[in-house]
Amino acid sequence: MSLADAHIVGGPTPALPPGPLFAANALQEWAGSSFWMSPGDPILESIHHGGSVPPGPMCNLVGLVKAWDDHPEWLDFLDPGAPSHKQKLLERGIYEHHWGDLLPSTGRVMDLGGGCGRFAAWLLDRGLDVEVVDPDLRSLWRCLQHASGRPGRLDLHWSTGEALPEVAPLDAVIAPEVLCYCSDPDAIIKSVAQRLKPGGRLFCSVEARWGWAAALDVPAGTLASLLEDGVVHLPGDVWVHTYEETELANLLAPYFQVESMIPTHYVPSGPFELAAGEVDLEEILALEEQLRSHPKTAHLNRAWLAVARKI
Ligand SMILES: C[S@@+](CC[C@H](N)C(=O)[O-])C[C@H]1O[C@@H](n2cnc3c(N)ncnc32)[C@H](O)[C@@H]1O
Repeated sequence: MSLADAHIVGGPTPALPPGPLFAANALQEWAGSSFWMSPGDPILESIHHGGSVPPGPMCNLVGLVKAWDDHPEWLDFLDPGAPSHKQKLLERGIYEHHWGDLLPSTGRVMDLGGGCGRFAAWLLDRGLDVEVVDPDLRSLWRCLQHASGRPGRLDLHWSTGEALPEVAPLDAVIAPEVLCYCSDPDAIIKSVAQRLKPGGRLFCSVEARWGWAAALDVPAGTLASLLEDGVVHLPGDVWVHTYEETELANLLAPYFQVESMIPTHYVPSGPFELAAGEVDLEEILALEEQLRSHPKTAHLNRAWLAVARKI
């Protein structure tokens, strides 16, 4: 469950630099390749090969495997040619604005549910050591590709938050847009807290209930469940628990002191996307501030961004 155990599929496996962790600027020979490593949960191997799962949160991973076949350009959005490249980096800019000053300037950070490396790339560029965990192996292939050549050191773990790898004590954990897709977020929060150093911070975000419902990419036919319990489920495709503010606060409370809980409307990709039009980050941040303080729009945020310090 580490790059140390990985081998290239159908070709020679280049030597790794000393590690783990591995200097990202010495991973160029791995970039762009498909590699195999042991999964942290055996079900991930079956899903990777197109297997199905019972209805529930794991459906997201089945949906991801299918999406890599059907629309890879939407998933590898760090590729400058991807249709959502600009939008995804603008969204990251919102996170950088709120979280940038609170992240450690040195040390080891886990990027939980890191996907194709949108946040790992940012953390590596800050010179941090980054442990990326994701249950989708194809995402880890792209993550390595986008990480290679950057400063900082990297390791990759093919696993879930529920089966978190054992790693050296962490200075921070970042989990943007992840916990809302997981089957056991309470267990994840506990494991994250166990791996953090005393006083270490968790930076996370989840889809917010009412703004998510109003976003352009909401799946059709999910309104009834949104009104019922906020859990949206299309079997074999997608499962999302959309959160109210208090639900996220309660999730974190047993192990963390919440330092900030910021609603973001994701101006470039939330319910006001069309009305906003083409906007740069400065305009987005100003519009976000207005949407947050306007009584008619405040509750229509697309996501909750939380920073929490381990108790
Ligand atoms: C919406 S993407 C966010 C990716 C990345 N954090 C970002 O913001 O660019 C959700 C990610 O969560 C991962 N994921 C889904 N279920 C998970 C689980 N149980 N544990 C950890 N990650 C999970 C997916 O594979 C996917 O990469």
